[in-house]
Amino acid sequence: MPTTTRQWLLNGHPRGRGIEDGDFKLAEIELSDPKEGEMLLATRYLGFDPAQKGWMENIADYVAPMEIGDVMRGSGICEVIESNGGRFQKGDWVFGTTGWTEHLVHDGRDLTKVETDLPPTAVLSVLGTTGVTAYCGLFKVGKPVAGDTVLVSGAAGATGSVVGQLANIAGCRAVGIAGGPEKCKWLVEEAGYDAAIDYKAGGVREQIKEHCPRGVDVIFDNVGGSILDDMLACIATGARVVICGGISRYETGNLPAGPQNYFNLVFRRGSMAGFIVLDWASEFPLIRKRLEGFVNDGSLNYQEDIQQGFENAPETLKRLFSGKNKGKQLLQL
Ligand SMILES: NC(=O)c1ccc[n+]([C@@H]2O[C@H](COP(=O)([O-])OP(=O)(O)OC[C@H]3O[C@@H](n4cnc5c(N)ncnc54)[C@H](OP(=O)(O)O)[C@@H]3O)[C@@H](O)[C@H]2O)c1
Repeated sequence: MPTTTRQWLLNGHPRGRGIEDGDFKLAEIELSDPKEGEMLLATRYLGFDPAQKGWMENIADYVAPMEIGDVMRGSGICEVIESNGGRFQKGDWVFGTTGWTEHLVHDGRDLTKVETDLPPTAVLSVLGTTGVTAYCGLFKVGKPVAGDTVLVSGAAGATGSVVGQLANIAGCRAVGIAGGPEKCKWLVEEAGYDAAIDYKAGGVREQIKEHCPRGVDVIFDNVGGSILDDMLACIATGARVVICGGISRYETGNLPAGPQNYFNLVFRRGSMAGFIVLDWASEFPLIRKRLEGFVNDGSLNYQEDIQQGFENAPETLKRLFSGKNKGKQLLQL
């Protein structure tokens, strides 16, 4: 019997401005029955990432462009409701890029079975793109050495809160930058950071100097803009600057101008590199196992912020840009 499903469709390209309600349209469609080799999936959770705004804007060339009327792209965890000889069995939970839809018919390609002893949502948070981004950015690009000082912007977010703890595991001192005293307290008391800097209190550069007196060996930047500039002013000799994201510019029309303090890379013999985590996709299963091991042996805590209700998907995405989320932003359907 055909299944009726609600879907959030793209209805605007939010370039140079914040996301607005009119950028999405709620639609209801009838799905056809799964053909041979296909499955009917019911979405249980959606995962949210600041990069989704870039996909809506069509500024990212590492993914296909999004057109008006497309189902909003995003990660999800789904339950297999019906399998017509598909890759997964009825009752299996799978995850991947499933989009903002309550149900979908899928052939299972690029989906992975949820196989973890942790709660299933972990595959979108600590074991998902978030966790592997923290792992690859820090270890493959930042190359920390025990004793290094690692400075992380966006530290109380999903990725940042994992980076600090991985830095601890590598024997480094972790200093995090986040917005507001409550998040900073959480960073030190629960997220394993040795010190926290509240960028909303101002004087970021002075605060970095106070907490990193010997300079910063590894910067893991999720924010860009003036915070990156202040971090660059405080690097130690041989520093590695990892550009993971730049959320401070996601609502401006243009890509940011180069940081004023970039020449400190010359004085301090530093290097700065960006990365796209998908380049290490073949290593994700192994990296997930390592991250799961860290969680199981108690050296890695993770935080999820789970909102409720499919109708709240656009509002949930907006939370990332107002800093309302603490840890990985998810939505339960
Ligand atoms: N390179 C890659 O392959 C890759 C892969 C995945 C993610 N990323 C990037 O990694 C970054 C973190 O992603 P996430 O999923 O972990 O998101 P997140 O950090 O959980 O959420 C975004 C956080 O950014 C902060 N923020 C928002 N606007 C800001 C501003 N104007 N200035 C300073 N901070 C601001 C907010 O925290 P405060 O309350 O502290 O302001 C907010 O909680 C993003 O930039 C994302 O695009 C990159």
